[in-house]
Amino acid sequence: MIQGSHESKIDTLLSKMTLDEKIGQTVMYSSGMDITGPVLDKNYKNYIKNGQVGAVFNATGAAYTRKLQKMAVEETRLGIPLLFGYDVIHGYKTIFPIPLAESCSWDLGLMEQTARTAALECTAVGLHWTFAPMVDISRDPRWGRVSEGAGEDTYLGSLIAKVRVKGFQGNLSDNNTVLACVKHFAAYGAAQGGRDYHTVDMSETMLRNVYLPPFKAALDEGAATFMTAFNELNGIPATGNKFLFEDILRKEWGFNGFVVTDYTAINEMVAHGYARDLKHAGELAFNAGSDMDMQGGVYKNHMKQSIEEGKIEVERLDEAVRDILRMKFELGLFDDPYRYCDETKEEKLILSKAHLKLAREAARKSIVLLKNENKALPIDNSKKIALIGPLADDQDHILGSWAAHGHKNTDAIVSVKEGFEARAINFEYAKGCDIIGGDKSGFNKAKAIAKASDVVVMVMGEAESMSGEAASRTNINLPGHQQALIAEIKKTGKPIILVLMSGRPLDLSWENETVDAIVEAWFPGTRGGHAIADVLYGVYNPSGKLTVTFPRNVGQIPIFYNQKNTGRPADVENPDPRYVSKYLDVDNSPLYPFGYGLSYTTFKYGDTTLDTNILTLNSTITASVTITNTGDYDGEEIVQLYIKDVVGSITRPVKELKGFQKIFLKKGETKQVDFIIKVNDLKFYNHQMEFNCEPGDYELFIAGSSNHKFTNKFSFEL
Ligand code: GLC
Repeated sequence: MIQGSHESKIDTLLSKMTLDEKIGQTVMYSSGMDITGPVLDKNYKNYIKNGQVGAVFNATGAAYTRKLQKMAVEETRLGIPLLFGYDVIHGYKTIFPIPLAESCSWDLGLMEQTARTAALECTAVGLHWTFAPMVDISRDPRWGRVSEGAGEDTYLGSLIAKVRVKGFQGNLSDNNTVLACVKHFAAYGAAQGGRDYHTVDMSETMLRNVYLPPFKAALDEGAATFMTAFNELNGIPATGNKFLFEDILRKEWGFNGFVVTDYTAINEMVAHGYARDLKHAGELAFNAGSDMDMQGGVYKNHMKQSIEEGKIEVERLDEAVRDILRMKFELGLFDDPYRYCDETKEEKLILSKAHLKLAREAARKSIVLLKNENKALPIDNSKKIALIGPLADDQDHILGSWAAHGHKNTDAIVSVKEGFEARAINFEYAKGCDIIGGDKSGFNKAKAIAKASDVVVMVMGEAESMSGEAASRTNINLPGHQQALIAEIKKTGKPIILVLMSGRPLDLSWENETVDAIVEAWFPGTRGGHAIADVLYGVYNPSGKLTVTFPRNVGQIPIFYNQKNTGRPADVENPDPRYVSKYLDVDNSPLYPFGYGLSYTTFKYGDTTLDTNILTLNSTITASVTITNTGDYDGEEIVQLYIKDVVGSITRPVKELKGFQKIFLKKGETKQVDFIIKVNDLKFYNHQMEFNCEPGDYELFIAGSSNHKFTNKFSFEL
């Protein structure tokens, strides 16, 4: 919550404002610099000069934002400065791994640092506000926007939401911090069929236990703004959903920032079948708590009439304007509207060495080693490599979706091929095929260099446009002729290392049976080529763990680790395996589970011990385990604590992540890791929406993945 210290100034300014000027503050338009939605109204400059706009997005650059700011400050009656917003999701010009990738580092300090760095770069080009972090929990890799979040787990997603808000916002009075915008409120990731913008319908217990906590965590960290989701929730479009924005966000959680809609989301309430026309949509949205209209022109064109008709109260308008002005005061824009438009900072900060170094580190830590047989990895420098695949010599897709201005200076982007060249690897390169479409004419050259090599590295995956917004897939296999190319290379008998670039979990069941090693690099960003080479050659021992489940095939979706047990679980010795909850054609288990990731070394876990088996309201339990690095490489291990609430007043997940620690162990080294378990960690919303921990039995285990047996029991007693 923003602790406003400008209330009297806000009151004074508000008292001077006409109705039109107040309405102007609730309007945001995109500049023509970047297109992030279906429509563009090119008259935004006129609207600025007429005081009809309070914020502009997709405009960047110290000079350009200064030019637009001058229009607002010097050409309008009250000179109220504009807010400049942009989707700085994983970097502005120095692009870090996509958020899903970064979440697989489980490194909260790193994720705060990359958000901080993104803020440093984007404030140097005049931006005050980023439309991030996206905190939507998603259990469906068909949904392309799984790439923008922190995966499937609520506990981890909440911690990541906090550090990203902290990284972006820092102390708002500094001129190198930005307003965060927590999105998309709420439950956008639960779209039916994984189809973007599709319907969301769930119980309030599911909403409160799974999808809302990351938003609350972001708010507790002081998030200044929230963005509405496109989807409907239980029959009411989020953008017009009083339960979300009035009852929960403002009344229950005490939010006092402002809410911006998603792109033309108000207009879309007509298509939803919830509003008769745009004016009705504007009344429903504004009265439900959507303070600012992104790109829709609905508040600009209809709010005045709605107020004259008494459909919108002036008091509600004053509230929204107050919340918007508060953020402009917090940013210091009334003291100096140009304090973010500093061309010298732009030159010095953008793509600095320190930022590029961080980008390489973040990419290294986000990479997940999924398979490594026959000691395929790390590659010995003496080996002759055949580097094959449509993403091996790529500088476009490697940044992933929402790459802001990352493409505006390709000198900094390092492809895998350039990463190999930088390490003076002895390799031949052949593209082999396109990502999607194309033909097989490149197969022969690829096979030829494979035959002449010791090891084949195949860099394959999705185009960046195949994940992110409006990019759902019903088939999550490698696209195009990529599998056929792998099959051809397989015939040469050479060891194959498959490096994947993707924005989602793919169906890798066939690849898992076909190649020797699989490295998930996601879209690793500006320095991805260096980071991938660092991992393949053992310069960095991969430490990433999956924050999203990889299914055996798309038919298993939704599949996630913290599922319910059902009354006929298939994973117990069952007298008649027929009548249990299972598929006839595939095992219930995923291909790669949540929390899973390999290292070049091995870690041995000792027995877990508890200092007591009774938890009370005022006590804690310490769960301890020793871990030894039993392999040949120093490495990091993400030690995870999972707890099961055996019986609840509503059924409880078979396990839940309740703690983790990322530790570094030299080879041969042993460390003890302790987890302190408190009652608060075990609370959940019951059917009466009470947030409680219920007395009873619990089980736990500590391991390097969610796929493990329970080892210890304890009980909670009132
Ligand atoms: C898009 C996205 C949202 C983004 C906004 C502005 O439609 O849904 O995440 O912040 O529009 O570009």
